[in-house]
Amino acid sequence: MEKIESRDSIYHQELYTILRFGALINSSLHIEDVLNYAMKWAEEFIQAEASTIYELDEENQELFIRLARGEKKDQIQNIRLSVGEGIAGRVVLTGQPMVVQDVSKEPCFSDKFDRISGYQTRSMICVPLIIRDRPMGVIAVLNKRSKEGFSQADLLLLTSMAQQIAVAMENAKLYHRLEEKFELTTQELKTAQEKLIRSERLTAIGHLIQGIAHELRNPLTTIGGFANRIKSEFTNNERIHQYIDIILEETDRLERLVQQVKKFSKIQSAILKPSKIQTVIENVLKRFHPLALEQDVNIITHTEPALPEINMDIPQMTMAISNIMENALEAMPSGGTIEIKTNRDEDNILLEVKDTGIGISSDQMDSVYDPFFTSKTSGAGLGLTMVHQIIMNHEGEIHIASEVLKGTTVTIRLPILRK
Ligand SMILES: Nc1ncnc2c1ncn2[C@@H]1O[C@H](COP(=O)(O)OP(=O)(O)OP(=O)(O)O)[C@@H](O)[C@H]1O
Ligand SMILES: [Mg+2]
Repeated sequence: MEKIESRDSIYHQELYTILRFGALINSSLHIEDVLNYAMKWAEEFIQAEASTIYELDEENQELFIRLARGEKKDQIQNIRLSVGEGIAGRVVLTGQPMVVQDVSKEPCFSDKFDRISGYQTRSMICVPLIIRDRPMGVIAVLNKRSKEGFSQADLLLLTSMAQQIAVAMENAKLYHRLEEKFELTTQELKTAQEKLIRSERLTAIGHLIQGIAHELRNPLTTIGGFANRIKSEFTNNERIHQYIDIILEETDRLERLVQQVKKFSKIQSAILKPSKIQTVIENVLKRFHPLALEQDVNIITHTEPALPEINMDIPQMTMAISNIMENALEAMPSGGTIEIKTNRDEDNILLEVKDTGIGISSDQMDSVYDPFFTSKTSGAGLGLTMVHQIIMNHEGEIHIASEVLKGTTVTIRLPILRK
């Protein structure tokens, strides 16, 4: 009668422990605290001296210590066990628990930890941590305090705990991965938002300058026309001729600008047809070859031969690549190298144009796509504005990286046509 009562009470105690343990492990505490607390319970309940949780590093097929408890825990933190090595290594390999009452008689036992820490392991109970039928680590509890050695009840208790610890560790891992992914997504979102703001800003400025350019056309024609008439009426007045020539030069410059803006307004949309980017590149290079030769610029091309077709507006893409080439050549007045690379990256074609020119300073980098932004005396500052618009028309992306006095790399990503 008495015996049954005591077995009953042990049973209740165990059940109570497991239930409380379940609640603890599912609590929102930090995983390290949960594991530490859980192992402290296990040690007390099983009456053991120390305990360790190992996690499996699948890539290297090694066990590393996730948590160690006991007086020598600090000395053993960085020791690793190969799968199959020692009792823990064997348990993770077979997926079967081991109860060892005297380690000196167990051939599997490795004294690696004892040698380094000076601790003396006498007995051990070791249980695998299993998730979806695959071991993810082991729990080892060391040195039973009483003389009887580990019991079947100790094994059962530790096995129940192991199941819950495995779930908690897996959740912590997933949570960690989720956190990393979330950080990445936030970054991607920020980049996408910046691109969108830039595109919208450029579209708004684009509309504005088209309106202004349109209004400028008539007065410019009038000014130019009257300036020419004045010039022809004052045939003998050299000073007036000088002034008129300045007016005519300036009206010419403004008219060229208006023409550029007109070009820009024509590329607001594109007519896309399946085409090969290599052909466009080859044609652009043919056109720039004599100028490059004259400027002592060496052009190197690395093009992947069998790139798939993309949906492309050939005249627009020709204009975009020409504008990039023009900038590269203008950045190298006393020679250099232009490297042109094309390759495939998953569902995209990447085109890279790299020069060894003067580069762009970081404070100018924010403005390079803005209309009329130029650092050149003769530039309209519309080249990259057009390139940006053309790439947007092709649902692509453009990125410019540059280092002052070293060079500039323009990278364009264009989506491959889906069949
Ligand atoms: N490859 C490059 N190397 C150095 N600076 C560059 C390069 N590409 C662009 N830039 C800088 O960006 C500015 C804007 O370029 P963008 O092509 O829009 O105008 P631009 O070349 O000045 O004039 P336009 O192209 O209208 O004749 C340039 O003036 C220059 O300062
Ligand atoms: Mg330019």
